Amino acid sequence: MSIILTPEGSITEGRWAAETPYLADLVTRCLAPRSGGILLDYGCGIGRLAKEAIRRHGCRIAGADISPSMRALVVPYVGSDLFFSCAPAMLDLLIERGLRFDGAISVWVLQHCEHPAQDIERIRRALTPGADLFIVNNRYRAVPMRGRGWANDGIDIMALLTASFELQETGALAIEPPSPSFTDNTFWAHLRARP
Ligand SMILES: C[S@@+](CC[C@H](N)C(=O)[O-])C[C@H]1O[C@@H](n2cnc3c(N)ncnc32)[C@H](O)[C@@H]1O
Repeated sequence: MSIILTPEGSITEGRWAAETPYLADLVTRCLAPRSGGILLDYGCGIGRLAKEAIRRHGCRIAGADISPSMRALVVPYVGSDLFFSCAPAMLDLLIERGLRFDGAISVWVLQHCEHPAQDIERIRRALTPGADLFIVNNRYRAVPMRGRGWANDGIDIMALLTASFELQETGALAIEPPSPSFTDNTFWAHLRARP
């Protein structure tokens, strides 16, 4: 839990409990998941949002994650036949073989990716043209530096996203209890894959 969500001025458990339903409400608003549809959760981690979306909407979800341990942990945590996990390379194969998703979420992921342009392009290829993407991200990059903390390499994630997607709506995360540093340094965005 503490790997997925760092404390950010609150305790991890408190952040998890407050943030997960708040983000699930935004996913509902932006993607309108439907039973029978299939969503991509890119950088699914342990699957807290996939689990909540399946509980609320009965949709199917593929969780892609670069970490083999997350891919193993997510399956029992989500605990649903409507979910499977895969590596990004396996997602590429599914896309190559014609699978397209009705929508995608990527929450607290792109800020950490070494090559975010490649990840954004993979998400775009995975989507049906005109499908929606829900993003939550830091405003600044935080690339893990192998035991030497985090680095901001200056890449502008929103600029990369809007090169391939049309921005529908963006906003600050107004999660209780209020934390100005958290709110100022993060954003959510609803984007649409260009046809
Ligand atoms: C902070 S966690 C967020 C997990 C989940 N989205 C959530 O909000 O609970 C970031 C996740 O992104 C994954 N990740 C990092 N780089 C990735 C990449 N290039 N492709 C896919 N997953 C990646 C990590 O392994 C980790 O599980």
